[in-house]
Amino acid sequence: MSLSVRLIINRVPHAVELDDPRVTLLDLLRERLHLTGTKKGCDRGQCGACTVLLDGRRVNACLALALSHDGAEILTIEGLAEGDALHPVQAAFIAHDAFQCGFCTPGQIMSAVGLIGEAEAGDDPERVREGMSGNLCRCAAYRGITEAVVEATRTMTAAAREKAA
Ligand code: FES
Ligand code: FES
Repeated sequence: MSLSVRLIINRVPHAVELDDPRVTLLDLLRERLHLTGTKKGCDRGQCGACTVLLDGRRVNACLALALSHDGAEILTIEGLAEGDALHPVQAAFIAHDAFQCGFCTPGQIMSAVGLIGEAEAGDDPERVREGMSGNLCRCAAYRGITEAVVEATRTMTAAAREKAA
């Protein structure tokens, strides 16, 4: 049995034939499209390493069945920078040393972009920590991660205000 799914990934349309309806979005990204920036940590929804944006909302790609999201728009870490220009969250992670081994970093960054888009936490470090609590870091780089997300929130809010003026 062959099943096909159409997805727009990092602004590029893809049609992928699947031989198993149980293929997750994570495996489709990593194994079929070789987008290995999205990491597989626990593969059971507990670590956040596989976080991507699905129609603008952050999801654990290891828990999402690819077939259930036919037609969806996916943004992964590979699609975040605009050419050589880093996304403000990426730049803030570098500025604040918000990683050590880097394994959790793509998921942290995508989760931060989603959190900022949700506009629930603002630049309050406590609420940012809570909003990022689904993303674990075995290197415990949490302090830098929180600082980076707070700074990126401020940068992006100021840029949006300037644009609207
Ligand atoms: S790999 Fe998906 S949550 Fe851990
Ligand atoms: S930087 Fe190593 S797991 Fe987070």
